[in-house]
Amino acid sequence: MEKLIIKGNTPLNGEIKISGAKNAALPILAASLLSNAPIQISNIPHLQDVTTIVSLLGQMGVRITLDERSNIEVDASQLTSFHAPYELVRTMRASVLVLGPLLSRFGEAIVSLPGGCAIGTRPVDQHLKGMQAMGAEMSIENGYIKAKASRLRGANIVMDIVTVTGTENIMMAAVLAQGQTIIHNAAREPEVTDLANFLNTLGARVSGAGTSTIIIEGVNELGGGCYHVMPDRIETGTYLAAATITSGKIKLKNTRPDLLEAVLLKLAETGAVIDTGADWISLDMKGNRPRAVDISTAPYPAFPTDMQAQMMAVNAVAEGTGVITENVFENRFMHVQELQRMGANIALKGNSAICSGTDHLHGAPVMATDLRASASLVLAGLAAHGETSIDRIYHIDRGYECIEEKLAQLGARIHRIPSNTAE
Ligand code: UD1
Repeated sequence: MEKLIIKGNTPLNGEIKISGAKNAALPILAASLLSNAPIQISNIPHLQDVTTIVSLLGQMGVRITLDERSNIEVDASQLTSFHAPYELVRTMRASVLVLGPLLSRFGEAIVSLPGGCAIGTRPVDQHLKGMQAMGAEMSIENGYIKAKASRLRGANIVMDIVTVTGTENIMMAAVLAQGQTIIHNAAREPEVTDLANFLNTLGARVSGAGTSTIIIEGVNELGGGCYHVMPDRIETGTYLAAATITSGKIKLKNTRPDLLEAVLLKLAETGAVIDTGADWISLDMKGNRPRAVDISTAPYPAFPTDMQAQMMAVNAVAEGTGVITENVFENRFMHVQELQRMGANIALKGNSAICSGTDHLHGAPVMATDLRASASLVLAGLAAHGETSIDRIYHIDRGYECIEEKLAQLGARIHRIPSNTAE
């Protein structure tokens, strides 16, 4: 295991490139199971979660070649297994995304119930309900989802709650189904739209992605094609928050401001001066301390839960008091205890965190507990006086490509060492 050592209290300054979106790359790679022709995918980020899904697809007989420029060629013409074992699925909840494509293409799938970040109970009932409506027989036996269907048929599906991977799984299952599927109350996240665009590139007929009603006309087969994954809006937001918390000035390239309007508006409320172009965003705090903001998380286009922890770190050093309410996951405040160890004044009340900003945080040894919680500790460490060491950073490597290289490029004093090394 490794840890990150950060010597804080330095404003970030400079330019970096944003990577491809993890949450788009994962469903897109899973969707490649639907086609029996070669597919080229570019802008895939180098991340542990991508390695996990690539291993999972490899075990099923998918041939994957990767070049040094992050381009992947996937060939799922010769599949040997429709089984997703616990050992791989438990490390990443998004592995459940192979369920829809496997069931649709092979009429059968055995997929372990997922694990992933410990940020709530996170059931998959909506995924199962949608596939059942399409005629699949579903059961749960010994921790595995077992699904069977001769050929899925289109259905009218109303999601009880807005779920991102649930919408994606059903959309993928519907692509090769017989007839029309309509998903009502669908997730509107940009990653759902990116998946729909990818499927359409291969010959699928999906419309309405990005709205709450998605219509899929089933086709008999998908072909090959080339696709470029969208930029990572959460990575983008995390670096912008890092510049905000350190009173810095940065420019991010290869990104898209239209993907994170709610986040940009909140950052502007902290006092950040934000400028944007089609594929870049700059943020300048003009050397000022941020002002505290109130945030309420909800499905897209509202403020994303995946940026909640990072904004909690910003509020921890901000002027004034901010209230952050988490509405998507019931157990997503695990970073609070660690931020408190660094001197943050945060009181929890139900699903709200009331944070009164302090003049400065102080460095401390802390522990990463989940992906975005660990990002908030990195941000706090960048702003804190003294040295912060963050243990269990495998959580960060699941979702941030080359985080210490990118931060070092922006002037941060950060490096990685083995966990058992004293600094
Ligand atoms: C996806 C993202 C994750 C993000 C989350 C919310 C990926 C790979 N991950 O996760 O980064 O934090 O969206 O934006 O894209 N739920 C049910 N039943 C279900 C499915 C979900 O009750 O069948 C609940 C969950 O417990 C949660 C809420 O719905 O409270 C939203 O979860 P969901 O949108 O499904 O999150 P993920 O797709 O797992």
